[in-house]
Amino acid sequence: MLKKVSKLNNGLKGEITIPADKSVSHRAVMFSSIARGKCIIKNFSSGADCHSTLNLFKQLGVNIEFIDEKTLSINSDGILKPSYTPLDAGNSGTTTRLISGILAGQNFDSVIIGDESLSKRPMKRIIEPLTLMGANIESVDGHAPLTIKGRKLHGIIYNSKLASAQVKSCVLLAGLNAEGNTTFTEPYLSRNHTELLLQYLGADITINGTSSTICSSELVAKDITIIGDISSAAFFIVAGLIVPNSDFVIKDVGLNPTRSGIIDIVKRMGGGVNILNRHLDSGEEVGDIRVQYNDNLKGCIIEGEDIPRLIDELPVIAVLASQAEGQTIVKNAEDLRNKESDRIKCLVLELKKIGIKIEESQDGFIIDGKTQIKGGAELESYHDHRLAMSFYIAGLIAENEIAINGFEWTKISFPEFEELVNKLV
Ligand code: S3P
Repeated sequence: MLKKVSKLNNGLKGEITIPADKSVSHRAVMFSSIARGKCIIKNFSSGADCHSTLNLFKQLGVNIEFIDEKTLSINSDGILKPSYTPLDAGNSGTTTRLISGILAGQNFDSVIIGDESLSKRPMKRIIEPLTLMGANIESVDGHAPLTIKGRKLHGIIYNSKLASAQVKSCVLLAGLNAEGNTTFTEPYLSRNHTELLLQYLGADITINGTSSTICSSELVAKDITIIGDISSAAFFIVAGLIVPNSDFVIKDVGLNPTRSGIIDIVKRMGGGVNILNRHLDSGEEVGDIRVQYNDNLKGCIIEGEDIPRLIDELPVIAVLASQAEGQTIVKNAEDLRNKESDRIKCLVLELKKIGIKIEESQDGFIIDGKTQIKGGAELESYHDHRLAMSFYIAGLIAENEIAINGFEWTKISFPEFEELVNKLV
């Protein structure tokens, strides 16, 4: 689907509520499915990825029902049943990597398949630690389809080279059902929703800096309310900062410090976003964000421990940086090449087409601001939801119309995206 976006004549105003966090929605369904008891999950994501997770657990015999569009009831005895047909994870890397940790220790075999993009994403990063735990996984040269032959696992001490929440979660979930302790250490702290939610559901897990240790434990079902997705809010934070005269509030956004790197970067660039009404919900920090247009942003360096805290926001941060004075340098983000697309190569290629001064580096990109975005081009989204939405935000300030090919991929994480933009126009 070709989506056309034109420059806005007025600022964005009003108030929106951001839909549920994708990472937490996946985990809520997974962990409640392997917990004993009945629970209600409120504010579940409408994104296609989270629905892939939900369908797989139904296929594994869990009783999951919708009470309304965003409310689920899950009733489980904590025991999964084999699926005799392959488990289709669609486009979702989180589904594939986390469920592998759960399935590796079952007493049955499973096959996980996915779409073209998912089948290109690296799975060695989870196969390696799971194999060290005694798992038996066949892949196509480190890619899906994955054939997981369930068996008894044992704990390990694993020092990961990557700061990846998907790898960490996979290993901790395998450790939940393994003999002995499992300790996972990462170079920088990646999002910790798994640790927080496992703790909330009663798992024996201890956290010490960038290390987490888990012992075999039973989860007990508990109601979960899912926070708003800061990765979805990021498109609006950037829109508010760059569309002249904007001033609006984004309600109920998850502000977990392992996810809120974009807020720190905006501050580093000299922009003000105000956090209002900060509180806790199901173990996670939440608040409202007031965003106002800012003409005085300055470029900055984004690197090291910043990266896992804003990895999914980097495409839209590139659009923001194009409107900041001076240079913005993103380093140590090579794993962006392994997302739904090669987000370094594709982002640079497409943003150049609309006049943004951006150059690719091996582990990131460099942007020279402040540029008047010219637009007047058709951009390819490479089946990547976050690229499609980032291009749309650039289109809101471009001199000439932008067309985005493959805009329907936004359904992967944020089907409500355009409706919410229209609410603020
Ligand atoms: C996710 C972790 C991140 C992120 C992805 C969701 C998660 O991936 O990019 O969108 O829910 O754990 P990595 O763990 O590969 O960095």
